[in-house]
Amino acid sequence: MKTYRIAAIPADGIGPEVIAAGLEALDALAARDGGFKLDVVTYDWGSETYKKKGYFIPDGGLDELKRADAIYFGAVGAPDIPDHVTLWGLRLPICQGFDQYANIRPTRILPGVVSPLRDAGPGDLDWLIVRENSEGEYAGHGGRAHRGLPEEVATEVAIFTRVGVERIMRYAFASAQKRPRKHLTVVTKSNAQKFGMVMWDEIAAEVSADFPDVTWDKELVDAMTMRMVRKPRSIDTVVATNLHADILSDLAAALAGSLGVAPTGNVDPSRRYPSMFEPIHGSAFDITGKGIANPVASFWTAALMLEHLGEARAASALMVAVEQVCAAGVLTPDIGGTATTVEVTRAVVEAIRGANLG
Ligand SMILES: NC(=O)c1ccc[n+]([C@@H]2O[C@H](COP(=O)([O-])OP(=O)(O)OC[C@H]3O[C@@H](n4cnc5c(N)ncnc54)[C@H](O)[C@@H]3O)[C@@H](O)[C@H]2O)c1
Repeated sequence: MKTYRIAAIPADGIGPEVIAAGLEALDALAARDGGFKLDVVTYDWGSETYKKKGYFIPDGGLDELKRADAIYFGAVGAPDIPDHVTLWGLRLPICQGFDQYANIRPTRILPGVVSPLRDAGPGDLDWLIVRENSEGEYAGHGGRAHRGLPEEVATEVAIFTRVGVERIMRYAFASAQKRPRKHLTVVTKSNAQKFGMVMWDEIAAEVSADFPDVTWDKELVDAMTMRMVRKPRSIDTVVATNLHADILSDLAAALAGSLGVAPTGNVDPSRRYPSMFEPIHGSAFDITGKGIANPVASFWTAALMLEHLGEARAASALMVAVEQVCAAGVLTPDIGGTATTVEVTRAVVEAIRGANLG
């Protein structure tokens, strides 16, 4: 029997609530499957630790994380710490330190979930957004000078390297190739940004030659927001820069019903390092501790993690269970229901234990 080492980092806000829910579902899946075990180590890294000790990740922490097969992450962010401190203190050192350059964001309308798009139901919106996750606008290059003076200057430099762009394009074309529609939309802004984004477009065209069975088109990011709303069926796989995909995927999540259902994986396709799986949402201060956080994003995230680990059967069983529960109307308030996190989790665990999930 295979045993996978999972590093759980629930961190802040609703993170601990939804990660606990996800771990419960994973336990039930491992018991049902019988072919694998999960050895979960939970880390208390987060804003509370930072406030007490002055750091998010202790010395040697990243080296220890490297030994995990995958990382299951909640959310980081606290009302009394600036967001750039929390993000750069915990999440980005893992993404960048482990070269998790492909951020994958599947989005579809689950049965029982109502999209704010009038005519869109399950099947009408089924996308995979691939976000460049190592450079671009979030490369961390820049600086500030003359702080506080009238002459103060700040730069935030977007970095695009041939290696970085080519590898994400290859990953995106290969991902599109595995999907039934085999279509990729390359999101760009090369009309206004004439260096990095023009190279981005050129490399997309070069890489496309190696994927003759994948059709592709190019869309400016501003036009893409309209297309997502007006023609959701025209979209299949999408590749975009770190910033563009960050924004587009929140829109995608909202169009699919709620941020509370949207999963993501920060993947190192070379598998040199563990990949990290997390719900897209943040700490959600407004609902923390109320027991109504939607655990569906955390379940879907767990399914992505299982797929990455090679446990496709368990991943699919988890998604079937989640879909059954959503279709039966056991929904948290963000998607129109009255169920609590615990009630949705119990229903999913019961579905995993009891039903024929294929
Ligand atoms: N990956 C991350 O760790 C991450 C991502 C985004 C934001 N953040 C941080 O989280 C904090 C709050 O950020 P924000 O308010 O912009 O975004 P957010 O995702 O925390 O919340 C946005 C809205 O969505 C709702 N929501 C989010 N997840 C939900 C769930 N599972 N169930 C039901 N409703 C849900 C919230 O209640 C809120 O109304 C900030 O500190 C921010 O930096 C962290």
